[in-house]
Amino acid sequence: MKGIILAGGAGTRLYPASLPISKILLPIYNKPMIYYPLSVLMMAGIKDILIITNPEDDANFQKLLGDGSQWGMHFSYKIQHVKRGIADAFLLGEEFIGADTSALILGDNIFYGSGFEHLLRDACSQVEGATVFAYETSEPERFGVVEFNAQGQAVSLEEKPQHPKSNFAVTGLYFYDNQVVKYAKQLKPSARGELEITDLNKLYLEDKKLHVARLERGFAWLDTGTHETLLQAADFVHSMQLNQGIEIACPEEIALQQGFISKQDLQKYLEDKPKNSYYQYVSLLLNK
Ligand code: G1P
Repeated sequence: MKGIILAGGAGTRLYPASLPISKILLPIYNKPMIYYPLSVLMMAGIKDILIITNPEDDANFQKLLGDGSQWGMHFSYKIQHVKRGIADAFLLGEEFIGADTSALILGDNIFYGSGFEHLLRDACSQVEGATVFAYETSEPERFGVVEFNAQGQAVSLEEKPQHPKSNFAVTGLYFYDNQVVKYAKQLKPSARGELEITDLNKLYLEDKKLHVARLERGFAWLDTGTHETLLQAADFVHSMQLNQGIEIACPEEIALQQGFISKQDLQKYLEDKPKNSYYQYVSLLLNK
């Protein structure tokens, strides 16, 4: 399975903070935002990842993440020159995906909760159809919204509806079979001129091939779209890390857990890293 992180977009809602640098590179407490969605793909066992950026920030992403070999992975980069919407990721990623299945995650989506690895494994093991994740929210009109029937099956999808038919938002993490590029090519731009991910998911829904997994209460899906929610996300990560003495979204730790790298690899990797609190945590992994 291949992974795509969509890290383009202007992020104007966070101006001036995101004027000189992509919003996706701003810190959520002690890590750049992209570490969080990257960690999700790593937890799903995905090693081959395409990072789609805007032209101005491509070099910064490459400076931060390199070719991925430091974590036993492989990163490639593609520039989205025109903001054509989320589903454009599959047109840009056609060659990268090849004959494989794929997972797409939006660069500003943060997921945290127990049982998540299990859900990810289920989604990865599905060779046919698509899997998306629904999360109950008090502001569904800000998102793609999924409606369920009495049997709990998804019956409709709408992008940012004025009158949402449910409180369930579709989060920014999507798993697809190999038909996704073919489906993406059928899409027409929406009223806002974008190839909507919701329209792509609707094609799977119409074909009865859309699986909607619910993220239960107690699970955290965090928004980073405004200054307020960006700070809330940082507060959340800070307090969870402080309480539990763990790092959320530490690629080094996940790479070790997933067997992407060995402890010897990690030791070598740490040689030129500063001895700050983050890398001290990483170096303690060598003794676990
Ligand atoms: C996008 C999608 C929407 C989804 C959301 C999740 O919205 O269009 O369906 O619910 O991501 O973060 P946007 O971030 O473009 O407002």
